[in-house]
Amino acid sequence: MRIVENISDLIGKTPLLKLKIRVPKWNLYLKMEMFNPSGSFKDRTALGIILDAEKKGILKKGMTIVESSSGNTAKALAMLSASRGYKFIAIVDKHAPADKLNAIRVYGGELYFCSDEDAGGKEGHLVDLRRNIAKKIANENPNIINLDQYDSPSNPISYYKTLGPEIKEQLGKIDFLVGTIGTGSSLSGTAKYLKETGKTTVIALEPQGSSHFSPKGHTYFISGPGYPKGAKIPKNINHDVIDENYFVSDSQAFNTMRFFAENKGLMFGDSGGMMLYYAMKHITESKKLTSPKNMVLIMADAGESYLSHAYNDTWMIKNELLDININKKIGKFYIF
Ligand SMILES: Cc1ncc(COP(=O)(O)O)c(C=O)c1O
Repeated sequence: MRIVENISDLIGKTPLLKLKIRVPKWNLYLKMEMFNPSGSFKDRTALGIILDAEKKGILKKGMTIVESSSGNTAKALAMLSASRGYKFIAIVDKHAPADKLNAIRVYGGELYFCSDEDAGGKEGHLVDLRRNIAKKIANENPNIINLDQYDSPSNPISYYKTLGPEIKEQLGKIDFLVGTIGTGSSLSGTAKYLKETGKTTVIALEPQGSSHFSPKGHTYFISGPGYPKGAKIPKNINHDVIDENYFVSDSQAFNTMRFFAENKGLMFGDSGGMMLYYAMKHITESKKLTSPKNMVLIMADAGESYLSHAYNDTWMIKNELLDININKKIGKFYIF
């Protein structure tokens, strides 16, 4: 058993969970990133961008970090700020679930909330507005720094240096890597490492309505991955390492998450539901395999942050998202 002296020493080295499925020769593994101390893989982002800034001497004790986030990065930065002597301000909007916002407050973080009205009712403007506010606050005060998870190279580098090597060491051969894209950093960094060290097909998923790979965006509820229509595309998405891309709807993701929690005791976040739905669809629609293939899904976070939406019956019914047919499909594919 490990004995550590700082919360940041507990980031990474997360387990792989092998799921039982009904299709022969496919091995499906989940990289369980909810075992990071703040509950998501964004601990790797937060530690990477903080260490980089500390090394450059631009982040010093007593300073304030300001960051735009859909929730998980802010939660991770709030946790690490509390442990390293920084103050923290999160710039958020309606995409951040209440449970994540509460956690940021508990870690002593301050919240700055951007409304639809502030963004003139345009989803894409909302994300850009969040980012611009974070930059403006930092530019106006020398004691405040914006580490910028969207464009900072140290974000994907963190995954290149940690998540990629961990999966490689755990499994050796990785035929398919599946991840979701928001800033694009986690998938791009991990994929780069796996492609340099083996033969891996990389699949990027985004919420239906998101507009990384499609100009036709519309609103969606999924929180974490995705980029609303019109928003500036982050520099950290590396298209050279992405082989295929697919869209998953709110209903497909949420009903999958709920079925897993109820029938397998596995409570994942929104992007986890997206990947489990995609894996089922892709594997059932693929040709019969002649040799075994390993697929890894990067399960970004735990379900506890989504209790007030995807796991809330009233919310699901109000938004017409319940779909029993998805449960049937999932139930036929995975072994519960
Ligand atoms: C739960 C969840 N999944 C996936 C993503 C996408 O990760 P990335 O920003 O590295 O593309 C995020 C980003 O915030 C997230 O919070």
